[in-house]
Amino acid sequence: MKAVRTIAELREQIGEMKAASAKATIGLVPTMGYLHQGHASLIRAAKVKTDIVVVSIFVNPIQFGPGEDFETYPRDEARDLAAAEAAGADLVFLPSVDTMYPKPTKTKIAVSEVTSGLCGASRPGHFDGVTTVVGKLFHIVQPDYAFFGMKDAQQVAVIEQMVYDLNFNVTIVPCPIIREEDGLALSSRNVYLSPEERTQALVLSRSLRETKEAVKTGQIRTAGEAKELLTQIIGESPLAVIDYVEIANFPELSPLAAETAILEQEESVLMALAVKFGKTRLIDNCLIQPK
Ligand code: PAJ
Repeated sequence: MKAVRTIAELREQIGEMKAASAKATIGLVPTMGYLHQGHASLIRAAKVKTDIVVVSIFVNPIQFGPGEDFETYPRDEARDLAAAEAAGADLVFLPSVDTMYPKPTKTKIAVSEVTSGLCGASRPGHFDGVTTVVGKLFHIVQPDYAFFGMKDAQQVAVIEQMVYDLNFNVTIVPCPIIREEDGLALSSRNVYLSPEERTQALVLSRSLRETKEAVKTGQIRTAGEAKELLTQIIGESPLAVIDYVEIANFPELSPLAAETAILEQEESVLMALAVKFGKTRLIDNCLIQPK
């Protein structure tokens, strides 16, 4: 595995690998580092599907809002390089902020509608930062496939929309959420949690699991009832402060009206949550396939 920091070096390395085998396909796994088994699962999926696996590690300042955790976002380059290599990366791209944004960027990619609800509503400008950096990475790496986790379901929907609208020549591969054994979705931000917050944060996956089961068994029927049950279960944890609880169709992400019957939908239905424990904002979600 090679690690490079500049765009020129990255292009040179990819050029050499392509020269060795013109038919080699490229898989890109964009990350912000502090890699865990969720990231590793994307790298492994890329390894299975593509010949050259490129992992980018870049804490992207333009997707953080004022007062968010850009400065304190956890970083550990040495550990990340070992984790990327163990999972099967061929090339790791670790650009500096100066490399990605040598001058403040005057161009951005902004996807509308899919970005208006859920995390887009709570974090104004966040998805413009995500699509702008991912668009840049797609141009720099020119991957055939790019791998994203369903942990960030809205991010998958937004990037799919960008790729479709702007004719990027890449196939997006959504990958399943990886969880701890007790159900907590893996996240680089979990390290911020105190032991008490960590225990109470289990309410997220539990609320999704129990509500999905209640929908599947017919105990509840509508989006309104599902939202109420999710809110009630999360409320059992005194430290949980709800940012949003939302039921929306996927991938359009239009919220379902309260009286809408979940299992009568044609498309997948996303139940998505963002909840704060102390200073830490966690997200989780699950999809229900009605048919
Ligand atoms: P980051 O939060 O580091 O996540 C990188 C990728 O790992 C994303 O596709 C995310 O959905 C996936 N991921 C995180 N936790 C996961 C889990 N528990 N199971 C499965 N996949 C998981 O998402 C970003 O970085 C950034 O927004 C980025 C796309 C890199 C743009 O800066």
